[in-house]
Amino acid sequence: MQRLTNKTCVVTGAARGIGRAITARFLAEGAEVILTDMDGDSGALAARELGCRFAPLDVREESDWARLAMIVPVADVVVNNAGVTGFEAGMTPHDPEHATLEDWRAVHRVNLDGTFLGCRYAIGAMKAAGTGSIINIASRSGMVGIPGAAAYASSKAAIRNHSKTVALYCAQQGWKIRCNSIHPAAILTPMWEPMLGSGPDRAARMEALVADTPLRRFGLPEEVAAVAAMLASDEAAYITGAELQVDGGLLAGSAASPG
Ligand SMILES: NC(=O)c1ccc[n+]([C@@H]2O[C@H](COP(=O)([O-])OP(=O)(O)OC[C@H]3O[C@@H](n4cnc5c(N)ncnc54)[C@H](O)[C@@H]3O)[C@@H](O)[C@H]2O)c1
Repeated sequence: MQRLTNKTCVVTGAARGIGRAITARFLAEGAEVILTDMDGDSGALAARELGCRFAPLDVREESDWARLAMIVPVADVVVNNAGVTGFEAGMTPHDPEHATLEDWRAVHRVNLDGTFLGCRYAIGAMKAAGTGSIINIASRSGMVGIPGAAAYASSKAAIRNHSKTVALYCAQQGWKIRCNSIHPAAILTPMWEPMLGSGPDRAARMEALVADTPLRRFGLPEEVAAVAAMLASDEAAYITGAELQVDGGLLAGSAASPG
């Protein structure tokens, strides 16, 4: 059974990684998907490979959202997935003592401002029908402190909170527009490359990164996409303001729990 037939879905940052997997899953569920990304070449290529429409969109730019609203004025599902760690160009200090204000703002501009603009676009594209699903990709880093990635953790925590605000606002208006956040952890995508490196210690780094994950492995983008498909579908009609962890059990316990 296809769960997203006749639904128009917009996915941001979908040229690769989790966004691409969500696009593929939505298409398999019968949706019409507009794949968007700031990287025009990779986005157009991914859309061609998956068989859907592409629209260039830098989530930081209000004018890009306005252009999308002209091309796609009505949507049933919007996935605010585009996000950055701040380490894309290489590892620099992002701890609370040494992070620069410039780096702090750059991460928030994509992750938080981008999600704010995406939610605002989504409400505009859904309110005429009074129904829809907004899915914000946060992170387990938005639930706990991350000493070496202060801006990333802060921006993801803010996405978690804003998702609830959007959910309550839409409910207050009497709309069936739902808004939920997904909190992945350690999903093997290109996002990890700068942190894993290509040297001989790559395998050891990978093992170390999931050492505290109860399921002892990286997750797959498709495993996040499956949860997004559920939240996008009408089966999730009673789920709003919720946060769903896709983290191999990482947040289920505490490293400091008694043995
Ligand atoms: N991979 C993980 O382990 C993990 C864990 C928790 C949360 N997440 C979140 O999931 C989302 C997707 O992560 P991923 O691992 O697939 O990342 P990725 O780096 O593999 O892909 C990110 C995509 O976003 C695009 N992008 C970056 N900045 C953009 C902007 N300003 N406007 C539009 N597009 C932009 C990139 O071009 C790229 O295609 C992010 O929000 C990320 O924070 C990922």
